[in-house]
Amino acid sequence: MSIHISAEKGQIAPSILLPGDPLRAQFIAENFLENPVQFNKVRNMFGYTGTYKGERVSVMGTGMGQASLSIYVNELIRDYGCTKLCRVGTCGGLTKDVKVRDLIIGMSASTDSAINQIRFQGMDYAPAPSFNLLLKAYNAAMARKMPVHVGKIISSDSFYTEDPDQWKLWARFGVIGVEMEAAELYTLAAKYGVEALCVLTVSDHLVTGEATTSAERELTFKSMLEVGLEAVLSK
Ligand code: HPA
Repeated sequence: MSIHISAEKGQIAPSILLPGDPLRAQFIAENFLENPVQFNKVRNMFGYTGTYKGERVSVMGTGMGQASLSIYVNELIRDYGCTKLCRVGTCGGLTKDVKVRDLIIGMSASTDSAINQIRFQGMDYAPAPSFNLLLKAYNAAMARKMPVHVGKIISSDSFYTEDPDQWKLWARFGVIGVEMEAAELYTLAAKYGVEALCVLTVSDHLVTGEATTSAERELTFKSMLEVGLEAVLSK
C-alpha cells in the first residue's frame, strides 16, 4: 500500500496505461484487457491489472492536471515499480495541420506550470518522452493507417486561462497540442530512470473552434488505446 493507492506489492504491472479519467481506466480494463483485476478504489481512482497479447498490463486513472498525476505517478514508480508508463488522453489542437480526431504523440512537453520552476530552482528543464516508447507508438499508428503527428505539446495548469489567446504564443513556437499532464509525467520518468510517453487524440480545436462529439471521441479513443498498449509491450 502507498498513501493514495491500496494495491499490494506485485499487483501492478511494470507497464501501465494512464488515462486522466478513472472511468476510462475501467473501460480499458473491461474492453482491452483479459482477466482484469481491480487493484485500487481509493478516491475512485480506479486501477486494474490484466493481460494484453499475453503480457501483464495495468491501467489507472491519474485525475486532471499535473498535481494529481504527480501523486499517482510518484507512487506507481517508487512504490510499485512501474517502468513503462503511457498517458492516453485528449488535447486541444493548436495548428491548422492538426485536425480533430488526429493522433498526437508528444515529443516534448512545455509547461506554464511552476512545478518544474520550483524543482529546478528557476532553471528550465526540457521534459521529453522515451524514444523507445515513442517509436513503438508511431509504428503502431502507422500500421493502423492512423493520421498521426509526432510533435511538441504544452501541459497547461489552466483549462480556463485568463487570456483566451494564450495558446497562440505556444503555437507560434511550433507547439501543436494543449493538454494538462505530460510535462510532469516525462519529468518524473526521467527522475526515476524509467520510460514514459503521452499519446493524445485531438478532441477540440482552438484555431477552428471544432469539437468532437462523445461518440466520435469513443471511436478515436479506441484506436489510440491500441497504440498506447503496443507502446508499453516488451516486443
Ligand atoms: N486545453 C487543455 N486541455 C485540454 C484541452 C484544452 O483545450 N482539450 C483537451 N484537453
